[in-house]
Amino acid sequence: MDHPVSGRVGVLVPAAGRGERLGTGAAKALCEIAGTPMLVHAVRSLASAASVDTVVVAAPPEDVEAVRAVLGADILVVAGGDSRPESVRCALRVLPAEVDIVLVHDAARPFVPPSVVEAVVAAVRAGHDAVVPVLPVPDTVKRVAADGRVIETLSRADLYAAQTPQGFRRDVLAAAHAKSWTDATDDALLVERLGIPVWTVPGAADAFKVTWPEDLLRAEAVLAATPVADRDA
Ligand code: CTP
Ligand code: MG
Repeated sequence: MDHPVSGRVGVLVPAAGRGERLGTGAAKALCEIAGTPMLVHAVRSLASAASVDTVVVAAPPEDVEAVRAVLGADILVVAGGDSRPESVRCALRVLPAEVDIVLVHDAARPFVPPSVVEAVVAAVRAGHDAVVPVLPVPDTVKRVAADGRVIETLSRADLYAAQTPQGFRRDVLAAAHAKSWTDATDDALLVERLGIPVWTVPGAADAFKVTWPEDLLRAEAVLAATPVADRDA
């Protein structure tokens, strides 16, 4: 049942992916945008949101020391797992006990605006168990069979793309991850499977995910368009 939550805010940052679609051969989180690792941009964006108290990063196991070195002593870094949900669980295990509101944010979204972080936190504080930032889908979306034939066209009117950070009451996220599911591309899906309502707030174009090589050009462009006074680098 929805009820307001007070307390501290922690962000879990799954950053242990291989970045196979990016195809650089190195960990995607350490791939540089304008000379700074994507993960560092992501953590700075999160830390610039006033509500965020604690950040825990799940790094590729072989890069834990390198990630600690680039992030500094204020950020907890643990080894991640073989799937995104497992990496989230690795970070959840070391989350300080006083944290009541947990956000989960992809390291691959380096430029989430603090206003989106705050909107997610505010919605959880207001009493929603699970909150997802979303953007309307601009294209007409079709389900397509393996042989290339269109199966059906979905109504664009009620389709939204889910971003991160996704925010949860800590007990709700812990219950979702207690199932040890490994097949989800976001955390809200795990909560949906428990039958718990998930709510939305408006996302932002700048919270896009770096997935394909061309997304790195977009990331460089976002950084170049940020006024120097607003950069924290
Ligand atoms: N992630 C993770 N642990 C995994 C897999 C993914 O922490 N075992 C993280 C990624 O580091 C990323 C986020 O989950 O920040 C979203 O995943 P995605 O964009 O799919 O990144 P990758 O899995 O690295 O990329 P790809 O699927 O192209 O290999
Ligand atoms: Mg992946």
